[in-house]
Amino acid sequence: MNAIDSSTPSELVVVTGASTGIGRATARRLAADGFHVLAGVRTEAAAAEVKAEHVEPVLLDITDERQVAALADRVRGDRRPLRAVVNNAGIAVNAPIEALPLAEWRRQFDVTVFGQVAVIQALMPALLRSKGRVVNIGSTGGKVAMPAFGAYSGAKFAMEAVSDSLRREVEPFGVSVAVIVPGAVRTRLTERGGATSARLAEAMTPEQCTRYAGLMKAFRATTESWGTHGLDAAVVADAVSRAVHARKPRTRYTVGRDAAVMTRLTHLVPDRLLDRMVRRTMGL
Ligand SMILES: NC(=O)c1ccc[n+]([C@@H]2O[C@H](COP(=O)([O-])OP(=O)(O)OC[C@H]3O[C@@H](n4cnc5c(N)ncnc54)[C@H](OP(=O)(O)O)[C@@H]3O)[C@@H](O)[C@H]2O)c1
Repeated sequence: MNAIDSSTPSELVVVTGASTGIGRATARRLAADGFHVLAGVRTEAAAAEVKAEHVEPVLLDITDERQVAALADRVRGDRRPLRAVVNNAGIAVNAPIEALPLAEWRRQFDVTVFGQVAVIQALMPALLRSKGRVVNIGSTGGKVAMPAFGAYSGAKFAMEAVSDSLRREVEPFGVSVAVIVPGAVRTRLTERGGATSARLAEAMTPEQCTRYAGLMKAFRATTESWGTHGLDAAVVADAVSRAVHARKPRTRYTVGRDAAVMTRLTHLVPDRLLDRMVRRTMGL
């Protein structure tokens, strides 16, 4: 995966998880905005696809320290400033907390927390040099934790805290940090997460199956409806573009009506009322 053309355009951006969904749309959008986009992908097939969209593929599994180090080398070896890193790569591991093996918790946090932190650490020297910005793709799941979303929301809540802490650490040195908070978006996350949760459901004990049958049915119906009625990923890419271009980026960009309503509710509504609203939303 060699550099395409290191003479133009004049600034770099990095987008992780750019093979599909929000990352792919973001890479395409930022390339159209005029950036040289380094797009993190995990297969040669995905590399070929993104290359056709005028972005430079970089082999990047964010849980692989050597690949993260190679990305930092690639950025360091380029004379163009790094305007932004878009931390997008993510997975969804959904099951009731009682029934979710620790290895699966670790997998969720390895990608969604530690992998993202590894990318931030590796690229911080370049961001400090260029006074660039970190754009983390959060989620409404990082604001409200629905049942069966303990691991996913745990990781997304964690990244909310990491983003706040990071902003307060590096803003004095000219690096800004923004979180994009999308509601439901039509991507492969639903189908991939659905396959994971079906596998996890099969491994539940008979008692757990009985206890959580209603919840898992409601979870499937809810996520399938997100997969059908969610926003186009390009709408999220527009918000990322605004965060990358703004003279003074906002700390958070909420994308979608569902995200706006849920985020607002968390500030206004007591826990017990929110519990009832969440259950009603899931049809429980
Ligand atoms: N879809 C939604 O409704 C929604 C809502 C709010 C927030 N989000 C967030 O948006 C982000 C992107 O998700 P998406 O909806 O666009 O789903 P997606 O289409 O499944 O895309 C996920 C991307 O992450 C990559 N990825 C997974 N594990 C990785 C790893 N270890 N290292 C590097 N890349 C990895 C995938 O690469 P491979 O193709 O190689 O697996 C893929 O490019 C996630 O952080 C997600 O939590 C999604």
